[in-house]
Amino acid sequence: MPTTSHTLQVELASESADRSYPIVIGQDLLRDAGLFDELLTDRPVVLVSNDTISPLYAAQICSALGEARQVTQVVLPDGEVHKNLESIDLILSAALADKHERRTVFLALGGGVVGDLTGFAAACFLRGVDFIQLPTTLLAQVDSSVGGKTGVNHSAGKNLIGAFHQPLAVLIDLQTLRTLPAREYAAGIAEIIKYGCICDAGFFDWLTSVSDDLVARRDLVLAEAIKRSCAIKARVVAADEREAGVRAHLNFGHTFGHAIEKVQGYGEWLHGEAVACGMVIAAKISVNRGYILPEVLDRLTTFLERFNLPVSPPPDMDADAFLAAMAGDKKVAKGKIRYILLGSLGDAIIVDDISHHEIGDALTSLVKIG
Ligand SMILES: NC(=O)c1ccc[n+]([C@@H]2O[C@H](COP(=O)([O-])OP(=O)(O)OC[C@H]3O[C@@H](n4cnc5c(N)ncnc54)[C@H](O)[C@@H]3O)[C@@H](O)[C@H]2O)c1
Repeated sequence: MPTTSHTLQVELASESADRSYPIVIGQDLLRDAGLFDELLTDRPVVLVSNDTISPLYAAQICSALGEARQVTQVVLPDGEVHKNLESIDLILSAALADKHERRTVFLALGGGVVGDLTGFAAACFLRGVDFIQLPTTLLAQVDSSVGGKTGVNHSAGKNLIGAFHQPLAVLIDLQTLRTLPAREYAAGIAEIIKYGCICDAGFFDWLTSVSDDLVARRDLVLAEAIKRSCAIKARVVAADEREAGVRAHLNFGHTFGHAIEKVQGYGEWLHGEAVACGMVIAAKISVNRGYILPEVLDRLTTFLERFNLPVSPPPDMDADAFLAAMAGDKKVAKGKIRYILLGSLGDAIIVDDISHHEIGDALTSLVKIG
């Protein structure tokens, strides 16, 4: 069933210019010539994608961009391993070879990897040009495309090189989810339920009540889930653009999740899968501290399992392994690991006093035997 498009606004504070931008959510936006004309007028573009997504969607975008416009296409190799400075060089070199100027707008067509790379390239090109996010994974639609964090990985760690650079707009075409593999879809669902956990108990209740529709990727329910997730992310980013405070709540499940990704090897577990398991660990500690009822943990676990998301930590990871991996996390402040727990359902809190013993207890009760 078709859905009408919705527009949300990300409001950002700025002394010098109005940097707020729209998030448009709807069907067939990538074919919408009028929308591109409105956003870009006659400006040239550099369209960045990868070798999985470009064959699926680049032709329809190029057609919507119109024949009169200068379009440089950059097709990167697919994969997190290519989220590096080499890919940035490819994008910048292509833009320079085609003599793009500061009027040019970069378009990021893809998941979080393409979005982070293109945003960072846009932040660097001629000291900063505009870019538009065209996210094609559920995770990118509800999370990475909104908020202005851009960057690449380094051999020393993930996302260590980057810049805050807000997009000119985010266009979420729901049609792109039809080609998204099941595991990637589930990884995005994990980020959606996270928003309910950390700041909207009503949203959590609604999501758990429509889990069958979400499994079936029903358009109307999906559009609503994406809209509410983006609204939460936009609100949090507006309140704390540079992650000095409340934006850290978005890391619920991420501190434990990053440790899993790091120890298991990036790519072994998808980011959203590791976050799913990380949320269960954090929720279990919240239960053990008496902050939330065990029933909340049960509902979270049941919901995640509907999407085949992992809810048990890797059996080879004990508290020592988690603590060693988490010590290198970017979120460590003054030598202390900062964790996001649930003070209650819909209300995240930041703590830095979780003991080795508490982590061990939570892991032991969650690990699957056999
Ligand atoms: N900037 C931020 O705030 C932020 C937040 C969260 C995650 N991230 C970053 O995002 C990245 C993960 O993003 P992701 O989960 O989107 O992964 P991804 O970009 O690697 O995409 C996952 C896979 O799906 C394919 N794909 C994408 N859209 C498709 C479609 N519509 N149909 C078929 N295949 C499609 C991709 O080619 C890729 O193989 C990580 O690098 C992470 O660090 C950034």
